[in-house]
Amino acid sequence: MTEKTLDEVKAERRHDYDVYPGGTIQQKLDEIAELREKCPVSFSEKGGFWVATTYDDISSILRRNNRGFVSFPNIPDGKVAFGQKQQIPIELDGDVHRKYRKLLDPLFSPARVQEMEKQIRDVANGLIDGFVATGKCDVVPQFAFPFPGTVFLSIMGWPLEDAERMNDWVNIFLHGVPGGTEEETMQARIKASEESRAYIQAIVDDRRANPGDDITSVIVNQGLEGEPISDSDLSDLFVLLLMAGLDTVQSVIGQSIAYLATHPEQWEAMFATPDALAPAIEELLRWTSPAMPTRNVAAASAQVADLELPEGERVFCPLAAANRDPKYYPDPDTVDFTRESKPHLSFSLGAHRCVGVHLARLELRIAFEELHRRIPSFRLQEGCTPKEHLGLTWAIEDVRIEFEPRSA
Ligand code: HEM
Repeated sequence: MTEKTLDEVKAERRHDYDVYPGGTIQQKLDEIAELREKCPVSFSEKGGFWVATTYDDISSILRRNNRGFVSFPNIPDGKVAFGQKQQIPIELDGDVHRKYRKLLDPLFSPARVQEMEKQIRDVANGLIDGFVATGKCDVVPQFAFPFPGTVFLSIMGWPLEDAERMNDWVNIFLHGVPGGTEEETMQARIKASEESRAYIQAIVDDRRANPGDDITSVIVNQGLEGEPISDSDLSDLFVLLLMAGLDTVQSVIGQSIAYLATHPEQWEAMFATPDALAPAIEELLRWTSPAMPTRNVAAASAQVADLELPEGERVFCPLAAANRDPKYYPDPDTVDFTRESKPHLSFSLGAHRCVGVHLARLELRIAFEELHRRIPSFRLQEGCTPKEHLGLTWAIEDVRIEFEPRSA
């Protein structure tokens, strides 16, 4: 029997996975479940990438970063916008990436993050103060979106009064000009990029001249094993740090509140005992799984399931696919706070495992604790149907709730 060529295998396994489809998250998960069953590693000819769908294949690929796989470009279609460099550190590999992690990991260690608790709680309460008396909240714009961005300013020691400006820039980067033309979005993005870079440059200059022991000062002044980081790389790193924590935390809070609005008994169960919240957050992280990494074969070949993929092939690894694999998570679409199963992959694995994992868990804990303390129960407003959108992060909007605030 003659061996099949790569093109023949691609044709045989063709399934044009759409990263940006309409429809709901559950519809996409149903499609992934069918693929996992029938063709666990499929090929999207339209996008030019492979799609892995099992926990075992996705975890094995992520663990092999720098050993057969690299992360650049960390986007399934491989298209890097004109003039765009590798994002720092998420698209760096090898030694330079290791140096960035050596700088960043201690700054977001469990002990460092624990010191941020009061600041994070103040941010959560400041936002809740803004809507609690009305008995209503549009969760994403009034809480889930501004919360991680404002926490970022607070822990980096940047002026909190700039939160609105910063959130506007991020909104333009992520969503463009709502209802605007492509040209208007492009112009708005160029303006936001110039303004945010100038803003960050002023902070960098200040921390060079007046170093403290805050995270920004350490990053600006410590450099990479003594080598200074250029102004442009510092700006890229700060933007990535802000964005990495924003879309993800926002998505987990938004999706969780939308779910809990129709499952009030589970909202109660999260606070039934002091130990109930941590496993509930892990289950919500598994169930919401917002991030979708891509890896690229960077050796002569790399094994993925039964395939030997040659250098240059890209594999899309939706973490939601791994986290809903029934091999490890029985009845995977059900939110079950008593699950005793494998740890989820929502923070990825291997060299690029999330820098902000401890910060993210603390932000989620504080967000849920403070919301529960001040809003004991809530429901979706009449006629409200939250809208989900898929893409490189899965997210939700239009989560409008109503409630009776806890009396003082
Ligand atoms: C629920 C919240 C979060 C989730 C689900 C999440 C998820 C992830 C995932 C899956 C990756 C790896 C992507 C890949 O393998 O290509 C990652 C990387 C990263 N995350 Fe998070 N993240 C969260 C919050 C945060 C926060 C709050 C920060 C702020 C410090 C942060 C900073 C980073 C950075 C800097 C990286 C790049 C790490 C590297 O390339 O070495 N993340 N995150």
